[in-house]
Amino acid sequence: MNEHDSEKIAYILEKLGYVKTDKIENADFIIYNTCLVRENAELKVYGQLGSLKPLKKEKPDMIIAVCGCMMQTGEAKEIIQEKYKHVDIIFGTKNISSLPSLINRHLSTGNTVVDIEDRDLIDNQIDMIREHPFIGYVNIMTGCNNFCTYCIVPYARGREDSRSPESILDEVNDLAKKGYKEITLLGQNVNSYGKTLSNPISFPDLLRMINKVEGIERIRFLTSHPKDLSDDLIDAMAECDKVCENLHLPFQAGSNRILKEMNRKYTQEDYLLLVKKLKNKIPNITLSTDIIVGFPGETEEDFEETLKVVREVEYDQGFTFIYSKREGTKAATMNNQVERNISQKRFERLLDLMYGIFYKNNEKELGKTLEVLVEGPSKNNDEVLTGRTRGYKLVHFKGDKSLIGKLVNVKITGHNSFSLNGDLI
Ligand code: 5AD
Ligand code: SF4
Repeated sequence: MNEHDSEKIAYILEKLGYVKTDKIENADFIIYNTCLVRENAELKVYGQLGSLKPLKKEKPDMIIAVCGCMMQTGEAKEIIQEKYKHVDIIFGTKNISSLPSLINRHLSTGNTVVDIEDRDLIDNQIDMIREHPFIGYVNIMTGCNNFCTYCIVPYARGREDSRSPESILDEVNDLAKKGYKEITLLGQNVNSYGKTLSNPISFPDLLRMINKVEGIERIRFLTSHPKDLSDDLIDAMAECDKVCENLHLPFQAGSNRILKEMNRKYTQEDYLLLVKKLKNKIPNITLSTDIIVGFPGETEEDFEETLKVVREVEYDQGFTFIYSKREGTKAATMNNQVERNISQKRFERLLDLMYGIFYKNNEKELGKTLEVLVEGPSKNNDEVLTGRTRGYKLVHFKGDKSLIGKLVNVKITGHNSFSLNGDLI
């Protein structure tokens, strides 16, 4: 979501005449799009802002802006105004379209300008400079009503709001016309899409509509909450040929007691049943997840339940996080916080287990011919191309750069835990 917001900010800045630079010393405008989901990301912002002080002294006309969800709750914007007075503009996730006027206000007054009022509406999407010429994000909803007890997002991004299907389809049709092959539908909880619309429609029906758009070859979506993942969605995924056989389904923790404390509203058994249904109806499906280690009160037995789920589901990918205490959330008030060194050890055990499973899953791809959307040259070797399979696996193979943006078939000949190698067919 943040990356997608950055694409919109980039568009606005280019319209105003700015061009991108790789060198911070050359910049006339520096902007940080922040995230406050975990403390580390927040601390990094303060560190970076601090290190800009000498540069701002040298170049007083340079504008420094900070935006994103860190500005929308808690004390960050006050701290920045008090301790980082060289910051010129502060705004939130729903003020992106106001950026030109915020810049003008700053230039005409010389003051620090702050705007975090809810202004941008989900149906009025801002144009963007997309990072990719053939893979695009499409926002379908904002906000979250779930209030998982560890999570600050509902406080920062506000309540759920769905974009109309007409507006979504307009954007997808436009992307198809521009040659886009793959789209990822974005929302904090896409499975509850449509509930706030005057003519409610379900997420599976939205998928069915988008599946008909000619030119789009692959559809993905992020993020699904297990409590809202319906049988109809599994049917839609199975029946829509463009919807990739891949799902990101965060389970967060394996222990039912911890899941309850997290307010996740499903049990381990509910989750495993969902996985079983998904694997039955969509035989080649690959699964990824988010897991939190060290939630307040997590015991060794609770953690073993997390490992058990990982072993049973056999994920292909996963994001693992050490619990980070976020002021303002319910979990931050719990007085049984887990010691950092215990969380750290559990985290390492979890990673070991997951990387082993990723390795074994990738081994199963050996000898198969997989469809790959070629994204570009590999970072380390210019002669090697990289792309992703429908199952979101990264593949490296030798090929000509003219293949970038095309769908090709690659026979898999090698692998590690995180990627596959192969030969172009
Ligand atoms: N601490 C650690 N991880 C968190 N996440 C959300 N809040 C926290 C927190 N306080 C993780 C969840 C979520 C992902 C986007 O970030 O796993 O799915
Ligand atoms: Fe946070 Fe839970 Fe909402 Fe995801 S569903 S954004 S983890 S509150």
